[in-house]
Amino acid sequence: MMKQIFFAKYFQAISLKQTIFLLLLILVFENALILWKYLSNEEKSVNPYSNTVEDRIIFIGGSGRSGTTLMRVLLDVHGSVFCGPETKLLPSLMSSINYFNQQYPPDYLLQKTSIYSKSINEATANFIKYVLKTRKKQENKIICAKDPPILLYMGDLVNYFPKAKFIFMVRDGRDVALSMLKYEKKQYNFLNFVAKLKEWNSINNRTLSLCNKFGPNYCKIVVYEKLVTTKEIVLRDLMKFLELKWNNKLLSHENFMDSDVELGVSGWSNSQVIQPIYNKISSKNWTRQIEDYDEKTVLKEIPMLKYFGYV
Ligand SMILES: *[C@@H]1O[C@H](CO)[C@@H](O)[C@H](O)[C@H]1NC(C)=O
Ligand SMILES: *[C@@H]1O[C@H](CO)[C@@H](O)[C@H](O)[C@H]1NC(C)=O
Repeated sequence: MMKQIFFAKYFQAISLKQTIFLLLLILVFENALILWKYLSNEEKSVNPYSNTVEDRIIFIGGSGRSGTTLMRVLLDVHGSVFCGPETKLLPSLMSSINYFNQQYPPDYLLQKTSIYSKSINEATANFIKYVLKTRKKQENKIICAKDPPILLYMGDLVNYFPKAKFIFMVRDGRDVALSMLKYEKKQYNFLNFVAKLKEWNSINNRTLSLCNKFGPNYCKIVVYEKLVTTKEIVLRDLMKFLELKWNNKLLSHENFMDSDVELGVSGWSNSQVIQPIYNKISSKNWTRQIEDYDEKTVLKEIPMLKYFGYV
């Protein structure tokens, strides 16, 4: 009873003019809300990426046989990072996502399938994060993934993980080529050697241009030969880049292999990383290994050797 009287009084108290004004105000507010929702929706389809995954994440890559395993073992020994064995998953995943994105650019995808490419990117980023965060022995450490070809997807990965750091391992292509021929049990002749060098040249060329594009805050080149000859200098510099504290364990990683490092069963670099980092590099005498070695052809066909100062 009391309530009804109160409301009656209240409504009598406001005039018709005031009522109309109030209704107009509600209309304006509602339209503003609809407009805002519309605009933010528009932005969703215009801006293909959003920075949803703020975790620091470290990617180690480069050509195979370039010290990527050694690098990931060093970070695992450091203690605050978990790299573990090669994931195998990431290059495969990124290659299909990359292929799909080329087939279906954002506008075309939305028009054809009603799927926002932004959603795919966010889901992929979170998928990667989830898989890496839940690995055996992860224990809440900084996430890291070592897969030689992963740096080729730096463009996508920077969008997924704005705080990512990329370590680009570089090693003399001729040592890499010899190592590959040995692993694949191929004949040590110049034809096979140059074929491997061309692969090395291509992956290093593409990775380098991405590394330069995203700059020194994102990408660090670590030269394998420098790592093994001037280990402390290279690693102290690397710790600064990764924003990690120095740890003396890094200087004798071989002593901490059992307790700290999970070696994958298949990594064929494993027998080498359990050794200390010896202060010596290859003899650089290629004719000893490849009888018909021809330096002129190498200089002409493999320009990245010159770029990195190996010839
Ligand atoms: C990488 O390859 C491109 C295309 O072949 C070439 O233009 C560029 O000079 C190469 N980069 C280096 C550093 O050799
Ligand atoms: C390289 O190895 C070949 C074959 O073993 C040898 O004949 C040659 O003297 C070596 N060259 C150098 C510069 O050591």
